[in-house]
Amino acid sequence: MTRSGIPGLEAPDPTLEAELRSRLDEVEEALQKAVRADFDFLTEAASHLIAAGGKRFRPMLALLAAQLGDPGAPEVVRAAVVCELTHLATLYHDDVMDEAPVRRGAQSANARWGNSIAILVGDFLFARAADIVAELGPEAVRIQARTFARLVHGQIAETVGPRDIDPVGHYLHVVAEKTGSLIATSARFGAMFGGLAGREVDALARYGETMGVAFQLSDDLLDIASDSEQSGKTPGTDLREGVPTLPVLYALAGDESDAASVRLREILSAGPVTEDTVHAEALGLLRESAALKRARETVRAYAEQARMELAPLPEVPARRALESLCDFIADRTN
Ligand code: IPE
Ligand code: IPE
Ligand code: MG
Ligand code: MG
Repeated sequence: MTRSGIPGLEAPDPTLEAELRSRLDEVEEALQKAVRADFDFLTEAASHLIAAGGKRFRPMLALLAAQLGDPGAPEVVRAAVVCELTHLATLYHDDVMDEAPVRRGAQSANARWGNSIAILVGDFLFARAADIVAELGPEAVRIQARTFARLVHGQIAETVGPRDIDPVGHYLHVVAEKTGSLIATSARFGAMFGGLAGREVDALARYGETMGVAFQLSDDLLDIASDSEQSGKTPGTDLREGVPTLPVLYALAGDESDAASVRLREILSAGPVTEDTVHAEALGLLRESAALKRARETVRAYAEQARMELAPLPEVPARRALESLCDFIADRTN
C-alpha cells in the first residue's frame, strides 16, 4: 500500500510525521500478523482488503491522540490495530449488506468469494480484534464491545429506516452510531493508552465522534460526486441500494419548482434507483443540486464542531495535525 494517501500522515511537523510513519509500520505489521490463520485460504481472504489499500484513518487517529501523551506506550499500537480490525470486519459485512462489488479499489470479498465467505471472514476479523483487545484489559474490552454494539445499532437503524421520525434527524443519528462510534473509540483508545487525563480523553472522544459524523457524511457525498478512481468504490452505490443519504434527504425535503428539482424528487421518491439510465440521470441531477451544496455545508459545520472539541488540549504539533484533519474532511468533497 502506498503511504501518501493516508490523511493525517503529512503532519505539520517533520518529527511528528517521522514518528507517525514508524508507528504506522508497526500497525501494519501487527495487522498482517493478526489475520494469519492455519488455513491458507482464510489468511488470503482476511488479508485481501488489508492488501487492497485503505486510509488507516482510525489507527492514525489513535496514534495522533496518543501523541498528546506518551506515544511510545506499547498498548497504543495494539489499540490502533483493534480499531482497524474492527473496521475491516464491518467492511466485509457492509459490502454484503450493500451488495457492493468494489472496495478499496479491489473486488469486494462478497464479489470475489460470495456472501457466506465474506460474512465468515468478517466474523474471523472480529474474533481477532477481540483477542487483541483482551490484552488491553477489561475496560478496553467493554469499550470495544459497546462501540461495536452502537455500530450495529446504526447499521440496523439504517436498514429499518426512519419509520415515522424525521428522516434527516434519523440519518444523522445513524451516522453517529455506524461511523462516529468507532472513530470516537479510536481517538479515545489512543488518548487512554497514551496516558492522557480523563478530561482530555473525553475531549478527544467527542472530537472523534463529531469528526466521524463529518467523515461519513463526506463519504456519502463522494458516493455522489466522485469517480471510482478517487473513492475506490462504485459511485452511486447508495442510490442503487436505496440508502437515503443526506443529499438525497435534502433533495426530497426541498420545494424548488424548477424542472431539474422536480424530476430529481420524482426519481428519488420512487425508492432504490436501479435502472441504469435513470440512475445516471439521478446522479447527474444530484451533482448539480442545491441539496448537494447544502450537504457540503453540513459536513463543514461538523468538521468545525470537531475542531472546537480540541480546545482543552495543549497547542502541540499533534493537535495541529488533528485540526488539519478537519480541513481534510471539509475539503475532500470539493
Ligand atoms: C469506509 O471507511 C466506511 C465509512 C465509514 C465511510 P473509510 O473511508 O475509512 O474506509 P477505508 O478504511 O479507507 O477503506
Ligand atoms: C459504512 O457504511 C459504515 C460501516 C461499515 C459501519 P457505508 O455503507 O455508508 O460505507 P461505504 O460507502 O460502503 O464505505
Ligand atoms: Mg456500504
Ligand atoms: Mg452500508
